[in-house]
Order: sequence, then C-alpha cells, then structure tokens
Amino acid sequence: MPSTWAVLLAAGKGSRLAKAGIDTPKQFLSYRGAPLFWRSARVLAGLPELEGLVFVLPPDQGDGEDLIRKLEGEAPLGVAWRVTRGGARRQDSVAAGLAEVPPDCGRVLVHDSARPFLTPSLCASLLDALESADAAIPGLPVTDTIKVVEDGLAAETPDRSRLAAVQTPQAFRADVLRRGHETARAEDWDVTDDAMLVERLGGSVAVVPGDPGNIKITNPEDLRLLEDSVAPSPVPVTGFGYDVHKYGSGRPFILAGVHIQGAPEVVAHSDGDCLVHAVIDAILGCLGRGDIGQHFPDTSAEFDNVPSSVLLDQVLEMAREDGTEIVHLDCKVICQTPRIDPHSHLIRKSLARMLGMDETRVNLAATTEEGLGFTGEKRGLKCVAVCTALRPLA
Ligand code: CTP
Ligand code: MG
Repeated sequence: MPSTWAVLLAAGKGSRLAKAGIDTPKQFLSYRGAPLFWRSARVLAGLPELEGLVFVLPPDQGDGEDLIRKLEGEAPLGVAWRVTRGGARRQDSVAAGLAEVPPDCGRVLVHDSARPFLTPSLCASLLDALESADAAIPGLPVTDTIKVVEDGLAAETPDRSRLAAVQTPQAFRADVLRRGHETARAEDWDVTDDAMLVERLGGSVAVVPGDPGNIKITNPEDLRLLEDSVAPSPVPVTGFGYDVHKYGSGRPFILAGVHIQGAPEVVAHSDGDCLVHAVIDAILGCLGRGDIGQHFPDTSAEFDNVPSSVLLDQVLEMAREDGTEIVHLDCKVICQTPRIDPHSHLIRKSLARMLGMDETRVNLAATTEEGLGFTGEKRGLKCVAVCTALRPLA
C-alpha cells in the first residue's frame, strides 16, 4: 500500500468574507473552540491510511509549529506533520505543501480547509478510486442550469447532465500531482483545482459521488452553516469508569463528598473519593481522553490532597470545551462494608450537584460481592460508572 499524505490548505485571505467586514481569514474563524481548519486536520489525521499532514499556513502567520502544538494539546494528531507557508494563488499554496511531502510518498490528498465537514467515508472512496485512476475527485450533480456569459449575455448553455460541481479533498498519485505542478510552473498554467493539472497532462481523473454536506465557506451567508443547529448533529457516546480504594489508615471514607461515619478509612493520595474518580474516568471515556491518571498523576505533588470535586470540575470544563453534553450517569458502589443504602440518597444528590445535573439523570446503586474477593473480605471498595453523553462528530 503506497504511503499517503495530505496537504491542508489554510493560506487564503478570505477576501470575499473580508468585503463583508469579516477580517479573520475564514479558516481561522473559531469553531468549537479551535480555528476552523483544525476540524479538517482532525478528520484527515483520523484516516487509517494517513501517514502525515502538511499544513499550509499564511505567510504572515506567527509560529506555525507552535500553533499546531497548542491545538494538539493533550490529544496529538497521531500522524507526522509539517508546516509551510502558502503562496499568492491557491495553486502556489498547493505547490508549497507538496514540496514538504516526503519524496517516497505514493498518494496525496489535497484539501481546502474552508470545507470543514469532509467525512472519512468520502476520503476512503477517493483513495479507493485512485487504484484505477491518476486522480479522484468528489463531484455533485449540478441542479441549476449553467450559462456561459459573455458581456452580460448568455452565450451558451452546457448540457447540465454532463456537469459536476467539484469539491475537495482531491486524491492524487503523488508522482502525477508533482508532474502537474512542475508543468504548471514551467508553462505558466493558471488552475482553480489540482485535478485540472492532471486533465491537462492527459491523466485520468475519476469522479466519485460528492457529499452535499461537504460545503465550502465562501460568502458571509455561508457562516450560518457553522452554527451548531446546521453543523453535523452530535452522536451518543458512552464512557466507562472504574476505581478501587484499599481500606487502611489514611483518609475518611467519602463518596461524592459524603462522609460515612464509622466506615473503614481508605488509603489514598487524593481525598480517596472512589466514586468521583470512577465518574471522572467515565467522562474522560466519553471524550476519548484516556483516564484520571493521565491528567492528574498521583506521582505529582500538585494533586496531593486535592479534593476530587476540583478534578471533576476540570474534567467537566474539558467536556464543555469539547462541546460534549453529559446526559446520564449510572454508578455502582461495590463493597461489603459499610452499608451504602442508608446513605445512597444523599450521595446521589451530592453527586448530581457536583455534576450540575438533575438528580433524575444520575443513578446510584450499591451491592456486595457476596463475601467474595477483596471487597468481600472487607479489604477495600470499588466503584464503577457509565456515562452517556452527546458528542459532536469529530
Ligand atoms: N488557499 C490557500 N492559498 C491561497 C488561496 C487559497 O491556501 N493563496 C486556500 C484557502 O485557505 C481555502 C482554499 O484554498 O481553504 C480554497 O480557497 P478559497 O475558498 O478561495 O479561499 P480564499 O482564497 O481564502 O477566499 P477568497 O477567494 O474569498 O479570498
Ligand atoms: Mg480564493
């Protein structure tokens, strides 16, 4: 399988939007807490075939590498990436990006970051089509009748059934795309997409069905497409959390901040709130962000004695930034001693308050393990939590 890289174009000026007073180039407009181009980067980086990504940023953009590292934050893209600067025309920006693609790369996807709603399945069908063509592009049937206009007069009406409105990403055999750009430079070609280069070289360009949702932000009226109501709807996700605490002299027994008098003490680095720890893990599970240990390592003095509620607040903030809405939590406390039932109403109430959720959306139950295992032997307790959330599509 030839290796695959993507060139993500984000070097345009957005002059059509600027005319309407929007000074920020559209690819840098904020969308769900990150610049718009980042959405395309995440989708491309998530493709199983993708080895690397070249970001083509505007020449006047500050430290591009630093920007990408900041955007990656705690969730690296998981593919190699490079940053380069774009040129005056779109095709100059593609050429600059292509120059950063490793020489042994076999396939290149070129994508306009002004199309934030590309899907993995569209990319997969383009790469599949490359098996029998030099290039593959997404095309949609044209619904309007198209006229060739000259001096304000309709000169010609091409047969609509032969036309397609073309999108990005566009997929190329890397050698053909390189040859196209070299020839364009040598012969001064002016093109509006890269497939045109392949057509002019006499190569084959397969047209696969485009995606009507894969819109390009161009004019001010397109900005409403970035509003959540029309952006792809969130999908239900589930996260699972699990935590264990050993009994022994240490910290008072608490669950969701509720202290149970007469219960064994627990050995813990933090405040030992096993239930909140399981809930944190379940929420991180929904966010696809690992577990509590990765974010608040117990080897770090910073989190010594920190109330679990503070850690939970930070995780809830992560969920908000991600645009994820927690809709339900189901929790179980598993221990032989103490008896949880007499306190479960209070614990549930407290947990709901910590989460800022209605109590009807937070369930709590307790069980023993019939004297079996470490809980049965009264050596510790465990808590499990299952979180259901609505998460925006990547
Ligand atoms: N692009 C680029 N370098 C350029 C021109 C465009 O990287 N010199 C990128 C844009 O950032 C965009 C994509 O190519 O993601 C498609 O271009 P277009 O929609 O025309 O964006 P702009 O050129 O930024 O907008 P405008 O034409 O309104 O100025
Ligand atoms: Mg343009």
